[in-house]
Amino acid sequence: MTLLEVTDLSVDLPLPRGAVRVVDGATFRLDAGESLGVVGESGSGKTMTALALMGLAPEGARIGGSIRFEGRELVSSSEEAMRALRGDRMAMIFQEPMTALNPLHRVGVQVAEPLVLHRGLSRSAAFGEAVRLLERVRLADPERAAHAYPFALSGGERQRAMIAMAIGCGPRLVIADEPTTALDVTVQARILALIDGLRVETGMAVILVSHDLAVVAGNCDRVLVLYGGLVMESGPVEVVLRAPKNPYTRALLEARPEPGAPRGARLKTIPGAPPRHRDVGAGCPFAARCELTVDVCRTARPPSVAFGAGHVSRCWRAAEVGEAP
Ligand SMILES: Nc1ncnc2c1ncn2[C@@H]1O[C@H](COP(=O)(O)OP(=O)(O)OP(=O)(O)O)[C@@H](O)[C@H]1O
Ligand code: SF4
Ligand SMILES: [Mg+2]
Repeated sequence: MTLLEVTDLSVDLPLPRGAVRVVDGATFRLDAGESLGVVGESGSGKTMTALALMGLAPEGARIGGSIRFEGRELVSSSEEAMRALRGDRMAMIFQEPMTALNPLHRVGVQVAEPLVLHRGLSRSAAFGEAVRLLERVRLADPERAAHAYPFALSGGERQRAMIAMAIGCGPRLVIADEPTTALDVTVQARILALIDGLRVETGMAVILVSHDLAVVAGNCDRVLVLYGGLVMESGPVEVVLRAPKNPYTRALLEARPEPGAPRGARLKTIPGAPPRHRDVGAGCPFAARCELTVDVCRTARPPSVAFGAGHVSRCWRAAEVGEAP
């Protein structure tokens, strides 16, 4: 069943020298219980896409296109309607829980907050429920964690608390934006396994934003590859990573850390620098760094080329892109 259908989503940010398009024509869908990985270099628009879905884009941002969630159009929804959805039907887990948690309130009170807000539970009933949620995310001593302030928990424990807060109301969609980047590698794998376990258990869908192709390969059904605000390629993970049809995805795969490198290691860089958005113009954002660039790449946005089974590449030369190395 289709949970989320995004069509031609764009985000324009107002900057002093004019609006900058940081997400450009993103089209994808997500079924209930599915997991979608979003990968791309820094500045490619991953977070902005996630924030647009949650109705949390920065002040003054212009959102275009359509976001249909559980059959409802979100782009034209009021802030009040979005507030009713957030923390209830959809929730977000951020990279650094210390910035998302309030340092002045006990963890249990914060985990309880969505239950008070969306479920009308009393504060004491919600606190009791928060302890059970902290147990569900396998915090060793949930009572202690509920009564603690965020600084008293480790980074991994704080991220578990954030996950408990996100799942409290039984959301149908959880968006995790680099949920393990701030954690050491042994904790990372456990947190990702926890999120995936909760997905299987509850049937919620997960959007996992990550720099790490290995993380997406190991945890997601489908993948979106972003570059310069454009979805360069999307499709089933095993197809896109085995037989990419976009030069950018290929470059990412070629740049991935050697086998044996620690999980979560950052990608080696692709030659050249990612585009500054105002420099991209009408062409393909990857044109300055791509090995297959031809004239049309610099002057016109690449078309979406479909390869079946939901595999789509935005590239003028998609049909010529060969197998992964
Ligand atoms: N508040 C803002 N005001 C202006 N520009 C912004 C703002 N936030 C992000 N941007 C710009 O929007 C573009 C997309 O940023 P976004 O944060 O979505 O990238 P990202 O893919 O999440 O990168 P990272 O991997 O570093 O988190 C970037 O060019 C960034 O500089
Ligand atoms: S459209 Fe052109 S520049 Fe862009 S990825 Fe394809 S071949 Fe490379
Ligand atoms: Mg980001």
